[in-house]
Amino acid sequence: MPGPMHVGSGKVRELYALDGERLLLVATDRISTFDVVLPTEIPDKGRVLTGLSAFWFTRTRGICSNHLLGVRPDGRSTECRHLAMLPIECVVRGYLSGSGWRDYRATGEVCGHRLPDGLREGERLSEPIFTPATKAVSGHDENITWAQASVLVGPDPLAEVERLSLALYRFAADHALRRGIIIADTKFEFGRDEEERLVLGDEALTPDSSRFWPADGYAAGGPQPSFDKQFVRDFCERTGWDKTPPGPELPAAVVAGTRARYVEAFERLTGIAFASYLADPTVVLR
Ligand SMILES: Nc1ncnc2c1ncn2[C@@H]1O[C@H](COP(=O)(O)OP(=O)(O)O)[C@@H](O)[C@H]1O
Ligand SMILES: [Mg+2]
Repeated sequence: MPGPMHVGSGKVRELYALDGERLLLVATDRISTFDVVLPTEIPDKGRVLTGLSAFWFTRTRGICSNHLLGVRPDGRSTECRHLAMLPIECVVRGYLSGSGWRDYRATGEVCGHRLPDGLREGERLSEPIFTPATKAVSGHDENITWAQASVLVGPDPLAEVERLSLALYRFAADHALRRGIIIADTKFEFGRDEEERLVLGDEALTPDSSRFWPADGYAAGGPQPSFDKQFVRDFCERTGWDKTPPGPELPAAVVAGTRARYVEAFERLTGIAFASYLADPTVVLR
């Protein structure tokens, strides 16, 4: 019996074709910052991403269909429907941070959304906004306007993924806030199935695809502490690294601190002990 065929590698995931319609997405423990994969891995990071995505996929089926078929006992492998992915990233921002903050400071706008004057870094927006980005094959994703995104995917499909992305964000942000986590922003990827229907794919609402902030320490007016890669980014910045490959090795304390943040995000959001997930990954599907 030949094994599944390796069909691609992302920065974090290895992709295998199970057959004509199904993919196996294996989330490794690789971590990237500033779009560079670092030489040091974060143990169990791939399991956190896989478990959290499956948790959200299971709970958001009423909002839109997704690619999830199952999670394997290793906790890091997702069996999913093979989609034809759209060439855009569907970003939703509820708070002003990262490239959204950068663009706002420079132009007063984010992806064509004109925002009120005088907003501070980290400020909550009166309504979440849809801010699409290109899917760079190499290098950095770039924020684009609705008009630019609509050239890439067509106006009707874009309106549909905008609606779905905002609905998914609102659902997840409400859920997370009740568990003490602010989802400042997040990125979705949609694709088309064999019937050309739009389906949510990739990972969803994880610390790699989102900014998660502890709600109790939140105060607009600067960068926020976070459950995501900020800890690693801060370390990388302190080393004076120029953000081109190769990235720096991470010391044991940074590895342990980062692992703890990923696991805490998983446990807070799911209400499930990470050890229970490791023992039986199907706990997130119930
Ligand atoms: N259901 C799917 N069908 C086809 N491709 C998918 C599906 N879900 C995710 N992908 C693609 O698999 C890759 C995931 O690997 P990842 O390491 O996250 O990549 P990246 O470095 O682009 O973030 C991405 O290119 C994503 O678009
Ligand atoms: Mg990815």
